[in-house]
Amino acid sequence: MANPWLSIPLSDYEGHMDSTEVRQLGALSDLFAEAIAYQRPASVAVLGVAGGNGLDRIDSRITTRVVGFDVNPRYLDAVRQRYSHLPGLELHCADLAEMSLNWEPVQLVHAALMFEHAGVAQCLENALSLVASDGALSVILQLPGSMDNGVSATPFSSMQILKSHFSLIDRAWLSSTLAVRGWGLVHETERSLPAGKAFWMGVFRRA
Ligand SMILES: C[S@@+](CC[C@H](N)C(=O)[O-])C[C@H]1O[C@@H](n2cnc3c(N)ncnc32)[C@H](O)[C@@H]1O
Repeated sequence: MANPWLSIPLSDYEGHMDSTEVRQLGALSDLFAEAIAYQRPASVAVLGVAGGNGLDRIDSRITTRVVGFDVNPRYLDAVRQRYSHLPGLELHCADLAEMSLNWEPVQLVHAALMFEHAGVAQCLENALSLVASDGALSVILQLPGSMDNGVSATPFSSMQILKSHFSLIDRAWLSSTLAVRGWGLVHETERSLPAGKAFWMGVFRRA
């Protein structure tokens, strides 16, 4: 079955995420800025880079290699156009839930709302394998809310196709799964959103 993200125009994704009902685009950008400020990585990889939300927060004096992965090649074309000025920009079209990555590791791997869409099997393996020995993994998860836990209703109806492909990931489960594998939580933060939703970001390093 084709990945549902292949049928969603980037303008619909960004319009949905930036709508007053959702307001997640700015929150995700702020959390990415927090992760790079915390880790100050010379190299960063963003899993599910979409249209490059947050890449404008990168300080090119510190981060000189920026790697973006996404399953949708049209999203990557947009990133290429928007951020060609970023030094060391590498963009790779890959299905992170299916393929095993074998790229040069980076000092920060950022996975924002990735595992909810791509699962925690191969995608988590890919995330961990990309982290350099002195590096970190930052993960943003959507927390269970009192209201709508899935994809909020907005004028961008194409986004509703994702509803049946989205599963919340429990942060305690993620932390204990990573702890068993030798990764410790070194930083965490929460951010509330409209419609009773909230994000949690955890930064993990090898213990
Ligand atoms: C919710 S967005 C991630 C948040 C985004 N970085 C932001 O800040 O707006 C999910 C992204 O992951 C991509 N994606 C979904 N499933 C994927 C997969 N299996 N492999 C690679 N990318 C995937 C989608 O195309 C989309 O760009």
